[in-house]
Amino acid sequence: MASSSLTARDYSLGDMAKVGIFGAGWVGLVTGSCFADLGHDVVIRDVVPEKVERLRAGEVPFHEPDVPELLERNRARLTFTLDVGDVADCDFLFVCVDTPPTYSGDADLSRVWTVVDELPELDGRPILVMKSTVPVGTGEKVRHGLDVRGLSHVGYVSNPEFLAEGNAVRDFMRPDRVVVGAFADADADAVAGLYTRLDAPIVRCDVNSAEMIKLAANAFLMTRISFINEIANVCEATGADVVNVAEGVGLDHRLGPHFLRAGIGYGGSCFPKDSLALKQLASNSGYHFHLLAAVIEVNELQKRRVIGKLAKHLGPLRGKKVALLGLSFKPNTDDMREAPSIVLASRLLAEGAEVRAWDPVVRDGRALPRGVEVVGSVLDAVAGADAAVIVTEWRELRDLAREDIRTAMANPLIVDGRNLLDPAAARAAGFVYEGVGRRMAATDVLAETADPEHELR
Ligand SMILES: NC(=O)c1ccc[n+]([C@@H]2O[C@H](COP(=O)([O-])OP(=O)(O)OC[C@H]3O[C@@H](n4cnc5c(N)ncnc54)[C@H](O)[C@@H]3O)[C@@H](O)[C@H]2O)c1
Repeated sequence: MASSSLTARDYSLGDMAKVGIFGAGWVGLVTGSCFADLGHDVVIRDVVPEKVERLRAGEVPFHEPDVPELLERNRARLTFTLDVGDVADCDFLFVCVDTPPTYSGDADLSRVWTVVDELPELDGRPILVMKSTVPVGTGEKVRHGLDVRGLSHVGYVSNPEFLAEGNAVRDFMRPDRVVVGAFADADADAVAGLYTRLDAPIVRCDVNSAEMIKLAANAFLMTRISFINEIANVCEATGADVVNVAEGVGLDHRLGPHFLRAGIGYGGSCFPKDSLALKQLASNSGYHFHLLAAVIEVNELQKRRVIGKLAKHLGPLRGKKVALLGLSFKPNTDDMREAPSIVLASRLLAEGAEVRAWDPVVRDGRALPRGVEVVGSVLDAVAGADAAVIVTEWRELRDLAREDIRTAMANPLIVDGRNLLDPAAARAAGFVYEGVGRRMAATDVLAETADPEHELR
C-alpha cells in the first residue's frame, strides 16, 4: 500500500511523506537530501551499483557544496538502493534521470521510459513527478504510458528543476519559484504541499506549459549570455569595455544584472543540450527558432575566439605551450559535461600547441582529448608556458597575476576567458593581458594599428 492517501495527509500542513527518487545524480541527490532535510523519508534508487555503494558508505560521487553535510545530517531518513521494489510504498516518485541529447539533438528519453516500464506494483494514489528536463508533450505521453500499463491510479505532475550546479542546495531550498504542472488539481496540491515550507511562489499550470517554462527559462538565460558575448566582441572592435557596459545595462530595472557577464561561452550538462532540444522540438513541430539557432552559434564561435587572441600575440601556435586554467564548465563543480575547456583543448591540439591543464577539483584528463597533461598546481601548469588561459573562474585564480607566476612563464601572456582579473593590475604586474570585451591598453592599441590582420589569424 502507498503509505498515505491525499484525503488523509496534507503535506502543506507538515505531514511527512515517503519520497522515492529515480536517479542519484545532481538533481536526484540534491532533491532527495533536501526533502530528507525537510523531514521526509527518502529512498533514492540508481542503476549504477558503484554509485549506490559509495552513497551507502556516506561518500558523495561528485563535487557539490553542502551535499555531504546534508547526507550526513539526514542519514536516518535516507536510503540508497538498486532495487526498484524499494520505492513501491512511496507517496511520490520523482524522476531525476539524465536526458542527454541524441545524435539528432532531440532529448534522449530512454531512461525516463525505463523508469515508467520498471515501476513496481503501486497501490493508493502515488504521484510520478517529472524533474528531468523533457520536451513539451512528454507528460502527455507518459500519462498515456501509465494508463496502458494499468497505472491509471498513479498521478502525474511536471515539476521541473532550476537548480544550478555549485549552488544546488541553496537553489533547491530557496527557489525563485516552484513550477507544478498537473492533469489533476489534487496531484498539484500534493506536490505543491511538499514545497510549502520553502516559502516560494508556486506557478501552477498545465503539464505542457510546465515543461515549456523550463526550456524557455534556460533558453532565455543562454540568450542573455550570447547577447553580452556579442556586445563584448563589438566592444573589442570599437574600444568600449563590456564590464562597464554590462553594469550600465544591468542597472536598468527592466533588464537586471544577471547573466550579463561576458566570457568564453556557456557549457555544462544543461544549457547546450536543452537549447538543442528546444530548437529540435520547434523544428519537429514545423517552426524554425531563428533566435535560438543564433544563440547556439554565437556560443560555439565564442569559445574559439580564444585561439585568435593567442595567435595575435604568439603567431602560429604550433609548438607553443599553453596552460588551461580551470576545466569544469563552471566553478564549484567537477562536472565536465560540454565544458568549454574540452573544445579549447581540442582546438589548441589541432593547432599543434602543447596543452597543460589544471583544475582544483577535476584531477584527471578523462573528459579531455588525449594529449592534454593535467597537473596538480597552477604553478606546474604555467611553468615554461607561452600563455595561460583562464577557462573557469575559480576563486583560486583570482590572484593569478603575481610575481611567481610571471617568472615561471616563458612569456607572461594571460588570456582571461572569464574577465576574472583586473586588466590594469595584471598589466601593472608585468603581464600582457587579454580579457573578453575589455578596453585594451594603449600599447595593445598601437600594436593593433600596426597589424590590422591579427584578428583574422
Ligand atoms: N545538473 C543540473 O544542473 C540540472 C539542473 C536542472 C535540471 N536538470 C535535469 O535533471 C535531469 C537529471 O540531471 P542530472 O544532472 O542530475 O543527471 P546525472 O547524469 O547527474 O544523474 C542521472 C542519474 O540517473 C541515473 N539513472 C539512469 N537511469 C536510471 C533508472 N532507470 N533508475 C534510476 N536511476 C537511473 C544515472 O545512473 C545517474 O546517476 C536531466 O534531465 C537534467 O537536464 C539538471
